[in-house]
Amino acid sequence: MALMAHGGSSADAWAELAACGHEESHLVKPLRKAVLPVAGLGTRFLPATKAMPKEMLPVVDKPLIQYAVDEARAAGIEQFCMVTGRGKTALIDHFDIAFELEATLAERGKREALELLREEAMPPGSITTVRQQVPLGLGHAIWCARAFIGDDPFAILLPDDLVLSETPCLKQLADVYRDTGGNVVAVTEVPHEQTNKYGILRIGEAAGNRVEVKGLVEKPAPKDAPSNLSIIGRYVLLPEVIGFLSQMERGAGNEVQLTDAMAKMIGFAPFHGLKFEGRRFDCGDKIGFLEAQVAFALARPDLGPAVRAFLKNYTDL
Ligand code: UTP
Repeated sequence: MALMAHGGSSADAWAELAACGHEESHLVKPLRKAVLPVAGLGTRFLPATKAMPKEMLPVVDKPLIQYAVDEARAAGIEQFCMVTGRGKTALIDHFDIAFELEATLAERGKREALELLREEAMPPGSITTVRQQVPLGLGHAIWCARAFIGDDPFAILLPDDLVLSETPCLKQLADVYRDTGGNVVAVTEVPHEQTNKYGILRIGEAAGNRVEVKGLVEKPAPKDAPSNLSIIGRYVLLPEVIGFLSQMERGAGNEVQLTDAMAKMIGFAPFHGLKFEGRRFDCGDKIGFLEAQVAFALARPDLGPAVRAFLKNYTDL
């Protein structure tokens, strides 16, 4: 299935999507690329994020960006593109080899720490960065990665969404993509009164934990929300979305919304929401971030018992 990604008109994209049809899904292109948008301002975490990117905030002992990259690699992703902005160099440095640090650790016999760094090292040339000079919205951030995406399907991981699960969340999505050859987004139920904070699905047929996506609305008021199923920060998308993003239409919050561009692909390629197995933590929000610290620490054999013991001191508050 050789599909146009961008460069042609959106009418071309429609026609090619319509032509690809479900019956050609045996020609599904492998999923090897991921885009990590990290150019947001992180205003909800000021002052912590004044000089440090939000995505470098650690949950227990690992920065959010590292969780996202580890999850993507577990799903077979080999090529990464970080969409960065001003003040984000720590994110790029994080994936470099720290020669002096490694030499010092080796000299001092700190083998465990050294092994930890080496295990996480990225293959040379596997990470590229592009710049989003002005944070005009998630859709605009993805459009900035258009040359990296080319004609290939790609994953998007928002590092401030963290998922604690048996099977890595993106792997669950990649399995559905392999089966359908279409767009797949991870979805979860949110309280009805909070639909105005999320991208919300209008759903069609459901089969097990998969739901057909019939419509998408960004941040609808609860009275207008077609369901309480919300998209979380994990996507597998066909490259045609770039053609729709190129229109640069402004949506909710006057931002270029990814949800709006995705909505334009509905009906022309398979589009599913996956009620993934696992728990999602919105680490862009203080309460979600604090809950993630506790949940991830409790799940760790080396820390769980001690954390469980000290939490008892706070349960009567
Ligand atoms: P958020 O909506 O959480 O925005 O972005 P934010 O700026 O990071 O945080 P707040 O709301 O000011 O506290 C979701 C994801 O999209 C990226 C962010 O970096 C984050 O990973 N993003 C958002 C961009 O890369 N560019 C944008 O223009 C907007």
